[in-house]
Amino acid sequence: MDQLVSVQDFEEAALKNLTKNAADYYKSGATSEQSLAENKTAFSRLRIRPKCLVDVSKFDTSTTVLGTKVRSPFGISPTAMQRMAHYDGEVATARAAGVYGTVFILSTIATSSIEEVAEAAPDTIKWFQLYIYIDRNVTRNLVERAERSGFKAIVLTVDTPFFGLRRADVRNKFSLPPHLKLANFDGMLSNKICNAKSGSGLNEYVKNLFDDKLTWDDVKWLKSITRLPVVVKGILRGDDAKKAVDCGVSAIIVSNHGARQLDGVPATIEALPEIVEATKGSDVEVYMDGGITQGTDVFKAISLGAKMVFCGRAALWGLANGGQQGVEKVLGIIKTEFEFAMALSGCSNLSQVTPDMVVHQSRYCKL
Ligand SMILES: Cc1cc2nc3c(=O)[nH]c(=O)nc-3n(C[C@H](O)[C@H](O)[C@H](O)COP(=O)(O)O)c2cc1C
Repeated sequence: MDQLVSVQDFEEAALKNLTKNAADYYKSGATSEQSLAENKTAFSRLRIRPKCLVDVSKFDTSTTVLGTKVRSPFGISPTAMQRMAHYDGEVATARAAGVYGTVFILSTIATSSIEEVAEAAPDTIKWFQLYIYIDRNVTRNLVERAERSGFKAIVLTVDTPFFGLRRADVRNKFSLPPHLKLANFDGMLSNKICNAKSGSGLNEYVKNLFDDKLTWDDVKWLKSITRLPVVVKGILRGDDAKKAVDCGVSAIIVSNHGARQLDGVPATIEALPEIVEATKGSDVEVYMDGGITQGTDVFKAISLGAKMVFCGRAALWGLANGGQQGVEKVLGIIKTEFEFAMALSGCSNLSQVTPDMVVHQSRYCKL
């Protein structure tokens, strides 16, 4: 593992270790994957403008999210079915987040249950990502279990009336390997993805079970059944951000679902400023995910107004290379790179990572 010194190194090694079914599932974006590429390249169009001769001998990367202190402003996005990457799956990822004093978000369609993760990572700050099932008793039960197990927020994914078209999963007839199950469920709901007959088994599952009639009223309904703060994940427009504020959410994750839903949408770093602007004057916190693979990406997102960022695939690439240790290594790489970015740009704490620290490359491309 010593030779793996960047998230990209981890990705390349992971793609060699994983089965084709899992590798394709983890790496794919929707249809022609234009937004998948843009999530990364949009970061490279931004330039950092460092300040000189600033005392950076002491600096602090901590912040608070939903009132809880985190040691660094990056955490782990919910990604489904992590036991395809390593037999400890979500348990390993949650523990690694705890070692780094940051947030781990557990997916509804995880291969480790709410209770297993709570028991294995009691000290990690854990949030639960929710998909709303047509059967509201199923949904309510998930929320109640997350509350009882000490999860600190419900992250409602709002960009998924059904799953996007991921061509590799269709070709592979994506199925969850038979030794795994969707651990938050029993019986048919836990193993329905195991035997796809045609097309992606996951898309079939979601089409049959997720509620595709959701509206903003359902956000209010969710708020009415839980004491936990509600975070909405998947906002890409200022007017939607305003609706989320009006519904009383506590935070927004600007996200295009790792470019896995609709191709052609903006990179999330491009959408971020519009959402930051739209929520100005409210106390709703704005986070983002999508395309974060290095410390300078975190720096750029913070500069453009994100309070916190999250990584999806980067953690999976760590998980596929040694479980908890691999995820820790990935978090450690991003942390070191982020600290370098802060110190070398003359920022000793996050309040100094202001919008003037980053500009679009067009400012320098007049020659
Ligand atoms: C393999 C995979 C599975 C995902 N599963 C979920 C999920 O269960 N729920 C959810 O809200 N988002 C899910 N996402 C989206 C992530 O939470 C996140 O938005 C995305 O991965 C961020 O982009 P990045 O992978 O470039 O960091 C998934 C993404 C990937 C790559």
